Amino acid sequence: MLSPRMEEALNKQINAELHSAYIYLAMAADLEEKNLPGASSWMKMQVQEELMHARKFFDYINERQGRVTLEAIEAPPGSWESILAIFEAAYKHEVYISGRINDLVELSREEKDNATYNFLQWFVSEQVEEESSTDAVVQKLKLVGDHGHGIFMVNQELGARVFTPPAAETGV
Ligand code: FEO
Repeated sequence: MLSPRMEEALNKQINAELHSAYIYLAMAADLEEKNLPGASSWMKMQVQEELMHARKFFDYINERQGRVTLEAIEAPPGSWESILAIFEAAYKHEVYISGRINDLVELSREEKDNATYNFLQWFVSEQVEEESSTDAVVQKLKLVGDHGHGIFMVNQELGARVFTPPAAETGV
């Protein structure tokens, strides 16, 4: 059974993951607007990742006989200055989410909730990947600068990303 504090914090994380999905969906729309369909497709894969993260918290709360509580999702920004600004914001957001996961791990220790501590380890590893994948795009975009051909190439490359569903990812 989850403690009330742990249950509330896990529920807030469902909201944070859905908010992440919402932000990335807004970024996907803005990238479409900027005529960068490959980068937009990459962001749509990111949206699927976030929905999967939210679902993992949702299922875990239920599995521990907790109560899922869904709250309003804050509206995301509508547009960004450039593709670089978008990926920099995505990277910054992932660093923020990593901080939240670390706080949840800390709380699970305080609550002596080893099951939740174990559950959260998947997210600890996932956040390393999330920060790394967004930063890799930022670095590429910094390299190409304002060169249209370079941005065209990065856009093409980002369009090749495919979503790995959780079953294949975890081997369950
Ligand atoms: Fe759910 Fe991108 O962290």
